[in-house]
Amino acid sequence: MSLTRRQLLERLAGLGALAALPPTLAACGDEDAPGDGLPTYTWDGPLGPEGAFEHGVASGDPLADAVILWTRVSSDDPSADVDVFLEIARDPAFADRLAAATYTTGPDTGFCLKVDATDLSAGTTYYYRFSALGRTSPVGRTRTLPDGAVDRVRVGVCSCSNYAAGYFHTYHYLAQRHDLDLVLHLGDYLYEYGDDTYGDIRPCEPPTEILTLADYRLRYSQYRRDPDLAEAHRQFPWITVWDDHEFTNDPLPNGTGAENHTEGVEGVWADRVAVAIQAYDEWLPTRVRDPAILWRVFDLGDLVRLPVVDIKYPLVHDLGEAVPSMLGADQHAWLDDAIAHTTQPWLVLAQAQSFTDAVRQDGTTSVAAWGRHPTSRRRVLDAAANAQIPNVVVLTGDTHQSRAIDYTEDPWGTYDPATGAGAEAVEFHTGAISSPGGPGDTAALANWFWADGFSKMYLVLDVTRDRLQADWFGYPEFAKWVPTRPEGGESWLKGYTTASGANHLVEATAPAEPPADVPAPAP
Ligand SMILES: [Fe+2]
Repeated sequence: MSLTRRQLLERLAGLGALAALPPTLAACGDEDAPGDGLPTYTWDGPLGPEGAFEHGVASGDPLADAVILWTRVSSDDPSADVDVFLEIARDPAFADRLAAATYTTGPDTGFCLKVDATDLSAGTTYYYRFSALGRTSPVGRTRTLPDGAVDRVRVGVCSCSNYAAGYFHTYHYLAQRHDLDLVLHLGDYLYEYGDDTYGDIRPCEPPTEILTLADYRLRYSQYRRDPDLAEAHRQFPWITVWDDHEFTNDPLPNGTGAENHTEGVEGVWADRVAVAIQAYDEWLPTRVRDPAILWRVFDLGDLVRLPVVDIKYPLVHDLGEAVPSMLGADQHAWLDDAIAHTTQPWLVLAQAQSFTDAVRQDGTTSVAAWGRHPTSRRRVLDAAANAQIPNVVVLTGDTHQSRAIDYTEDPWGTYDPATGAGAEAVEFHTGAISSPGGPGDTAALANWFWADGFSKMYLVLDVTRDRLQADWFGYPEFAKWVPTRPEGGESWLKGYTTASGANHLVEATAPAEPPADVPAPAP
């Protein structure tokens, strides 16, 4: 069953999911006033469950003056709304609070709560916590984006986190870093399958494939009770975009279904899309007015522009477009505009699927997801060239492999792998947090410098005015099979740099040195 945008909006409205933007909390604490004059939490009712905040806290979609704060309350009464008190402070001990207020959550949002903390200072670390039912959440740490002149940013990048396929040690190591401004998750945040279908290391909740809103909520709940994932959310603001498994495997064009959906037997596809979108909107700390429109842009001061695009948009919706494209007409137009107005030297496109085709010397080609829509890919690159953006970087999830690639249309002709002449962009694949890998073969590929499919990893993007470096950190695949962390911890797997203006990768001899002063972790 095909799903038009109008039909989707009607379904979301019917589910009560078309909420406006989250409520706000404006910072107003007066540094010079004795005490902060802000309300404090009191509770004289019966104590709520010990696990009232079993899903922890999260933050996301940071701006220079705002960030989304998230929690969920596990209440004994599934039908009653719950009051939730939120505090933000400059310090992890909450001696220096700058905002506090009470909100309500309840069954309509699956007891998830998002608040947009506003009027914050740029490039600043904050701490936050929630209280409800007499219980108080863990303390979260978050950070606003830098503004104005920025010398350096560091971004953690990850994707493909399959709970059933292994333990999330990768998230543990990511959470241990305190030298990142934010974390990007490029999709396949969760997987829809039931037990023993795509991983048998850990049992799934529910044990069957997720189909209904209750199923999707329960699967998110299981993931967010994982201590390593919860800790990674607690320590950093995240920016996320979905790939296919947040719906189900391989949606087909124009809202007509998916590889892993049997119409009728597994319900109505349009309904499944709607509940998948609603659950994502509830559980991820995103700031979107329409939960189906996930594309957005972030500016990291005058250094980096970061558009996040949704390549599933023209698949899970029926856009009614005669000529299919990678992004759909309205998202393409939006991205054209975002690129045209880029003033930063680094344009970093965050998205879920591979950008560069693998063209071997004998002419055989593995066509990338974007290669199936070469007009769309050309449009993005031409927009960047027209805007005279000196550096174009594509961040890619989905492939379960780390990859370091120069983007060129002519790898065996005008392109020179030694100098990068003829390259228009660089592409980094993040590898997988826990999803199964595969052989990473770069043989007979002029512009693919490295591929690793048998390590579990994340990457750190370190950007300065002069260069951008990508460093992958991880451990061998088999270490994900057991709950104990790999002996010896994680290691630096590889690094590649591109000098400003070069759009060409060169192997690094060491990981980028972390900054000297990093904020205190959330306690
Ligand atoms: Fe994946």
